[in-house]
Amino acid sequence: MSEEIRLMLVSEAEKMRKAAYAPYSGFSVGAALLCKNGNIYKGVNIENSSFGAGICAERSAFCTAISAGEKDFEAIAVAGGKSFGKITDYCPPCGICRQFMTEFCGGDFKIILSDGKNIREYDLSFLAPFGFDKNRFGI
Ligand code: THU
Repeated sequence: MSEEIRLMLVSEAEKMRKAAYAPYSGFSVGAALLCKNGNIYKGVNIENSSFGAGICAERSAFCTAISAGEKDFEAIAVAGGKSFGKITDYCPPCGICRQFMTEFCGGDFKIILSDGKNIREYDLSFLAPFGFDKNRFGI
């Protein structure tokens, strides 16, 4: 992926934070998911007064993309921080999101994180090693 696309994905993820619905945690997350065909789908965290019913920005982006018929994914940028502040640290995907990605992405799927200044990029295989993989069991 070019540096230009990487920066654009990070910028889209950061911009999306405004649309987060996070009244309980006060922590707003945005995600921008790049498909192999070049399409981009965005997501935000959407919380619920029944706390366990909330969804993370990453899964929200994947659900939108998959609902639109997308099947092949290249990378996701994630940016999160206190709702009324700037980003000050990296926001790596939670365990459920890593498992969710494992369902739809190969180990070389890229996860791009920003702390507001610097950008880090990880392979899914690094962030979710030895995850439960349907291909292992043919399910
Ligand atoms: N959250 C995300 O959306 N993505 C992450 O990678 C980590 C956490 C959300 C869940 C919850 O709405 C809020 O951030 C605080 O945990």
